[in-house]
Amino acid sequence: MGLFKDYVSQTRKPEGVLGKMMLNGMNSGHAKMADWGLMHLKRTRPEMIAELGCGGGRNAGALLEKYPSAKVTELDYSELSVETAKEYNKAMIEAGRCTVIQGDVSALTLENNIYDLATAFETIYFWKDLEKCFAQVAGILKEGAVFMIVNESDGTDKTSLKFEKIIEGMKCYTADEIERALKAAGFSSVKTDHHPSKPWLCVLAKK
Ligand SMILES: C[S@@+](CC[C@H](N)C(=O)[O-])C[C@H]1O[C@@H](n2cnc3c(N)ncnc32)[C@H](O)[C@@H]1O
Repeated sequence: MGLFKDYVSQTRKPEGVLGKMMLNGMNSGHAKMADWGLMHLKRTRPEMIAELGCGGGRNAGALLEKYPSAKVTELDYSELSVETAKEYNKAMIEAGRCTVIQGDVSALTLENNIYDLATAFETIYFWKDLEKCFAQVAGILKEGAVFMIVNESDGTDKTSLKFEKIIEGMKCYTADEIERALKAAGFSSVKTDHHPSKPWLCVLAKK
């Protein structure tokens, strides 16, 4: 279990050589699921986007492509994720459309009430005190803005529950648990879509 546990645990806060391998793996491995999530954003025309728990930066890149006039702020508490996301979105950073900062979603230092969209792909499993973190996200969003959560796990699938036992600090949430925490954090409406054949969840919450 040693090396396997060390490797899969890199999903929580990537660091070192294994962390770099994991970030590259997640950039490609999460792409299909992330794009399925992004398809749910039909009516939003965001100008200011916060991509939280950005990992290697691939999903911020997809957001920048989907919304050519938007600016994206990527945030992650792992120094290595920040470095990797900066490499991945180098051209967009130079063009002034992307910023990558190190920070923790449980204590966001981003400006309040300025974002039209916040996204969280495959990351809320690791957010300590979900309700508190969701309240922080609500704080940075404008009234009526959207928070999108995309998870590979619906909190009941066997594979993810196996990883939950191996990776310290990981918690796979059901749609109901996510919805309750969002409402308690002040979001007004919450809609969840479950992939027809996979345990993927896409949750859209409106401030
Ligand atoms: C499983 S990876 C997913 C990365 C990326 N979103 C993706 O889909 O490929 C989880 C990421 O969330 C970050 N993360 C976890 N908890 C965080 C927190 N409290 N604040 C900021 N980032 C966090 C980790 O450092 C890691 O880069």
